[in-house]
Amino acid sequence: MSKILVTGGAGFIGAHLVKELLARGDEVVIVDDFNNRYDPKLKEARVSELLPDFPTDVLIREDVSDAEAMAKVFANHKFDAVVHLAAWAAVQRSIDEPLTYSNANINGTIVMLEEARKHNVKNFVFASSSSVYGGREEMPLSETDDVSKPISPYAATKVAGEALCATWNYLYDLPISAVRFFTVYGPWGRPEMALFKFTEAIEEGRTIEMRGSETKRDFTFIDDIVQGLLGAIDNPPAGYEIYNLGNQDAVPLPRFIKAIEAALDKKATITDVPLPPGDVPQTLADISKAKERLGYKPTTSIEEGVKKFVSWYQDWYLPNFRK
Ligand SMILES: NC(=O)c1ccc[n+]([C@@H]2O[C@H](COP(=O)([O-])OP(=O)(O)OC[C@H]3O[C@@H](n4cnc5c(N)ncnc54)[C@H](O)[C@@H]3O)[C@@H](O)[C@H]2O)c1
Repeated sequence: MSKILVTGGAGFIGAHLVKELLARGDEVVIVDDFNNRYDPKLKEARVSELLPDFPTDVLIREDVSDAEAMAKVFANHKFDAVVHLAAWAAVQRSIDEPLTYSNANINGTIVMLEEARKHNVKNFVFASSSSVYGGREEMPLSETDDVSKPISPYAATKVAGEALCATWNYLYDLPISAVRFFTVYGPWGRPEMALFKFTEAIEEGRTIEMRGSETKRDFTFIDDIVQGLLGAIDNPPAGYEIYNLGNQDAVPLPRFIKAIEAALDKKATITDVPLPPGDVPQTLADISKAKERLGYKPTTSIEEGVKKFVSWYQDWYLPNFRK
């Protein structure tokens, strides 16, 4: 049994991860500030529904960039591993509020790395993103590719986070895995993500905006991401390593929309709009490194995963959240 700090544990990926960690007998402390980037009621609901018995004294409602508050957390607990997921996600909003993003994503990461090295933590996992690859056109995207040209402030904060991880590993020998998630989706997902917005709009009979009919995304189902994260937690590297966690299937938007239509049994009305600045045209992960070193093995097709999301949306979200 390990004692694991999960920052962002009330978030989409975090809550699913904590559920699995508890199920296998690990002890978990959560730090999450329940900020209002999207409806905090959904974060509260993830905790009450996915983690119903989670003890309130280790559900710490603080900001990861608050150095004093984080020093207290590390003084009160001896962690075997830190999984740092807390961040402001979403590309478009980062263009409007770059400073909010840099504070949470860059300063917050420095605070966590500092506390981890001061307390001699032997295992640090950092949530990075496929967005670090920027507008790169050659596919698949591999961990050794250049990431020096991010195209949104959000992506730039993730490139910075990785650079900080490399630095803390160099200075203090802190073992760190940076995991680059590729468009994660599934039940309890974030309301501003395409799957959520498209499902809502189709269900309500509104027109959906298809941002670039040529756009392709390597959508990765939440259960597969959690399996990859557990692999990273269980296999701390000797130094600093980066892993792509994708599904190795570049899904064109029309196929994605078809999967939602099939799951809802309802036709979409679609209008084509150009890809907005900041959004990357395509992603496709080379996952051979994570397969080999972490035992990562994604198994969920977009059609199956969308069906599971839509079932959750109809059975839980609509009855509880529809205004
Ligand atoms: N979902 C994806 O497709 C995806 C893709 C690539 C990378 N990521 C990264 O994975 C991580 C988790 O993403 P998610 O989709 O679960 O997003 P999310 O927004 O649902 O979860 C993030 C959680 O962190 C918390 N948080 C944010 N800033 C904080 C701060 N300063 N202090 C304390 N808590 C804070 C939020 O309240 C939220 O509960 C993020 O780092 C994100 O950038 C996600």
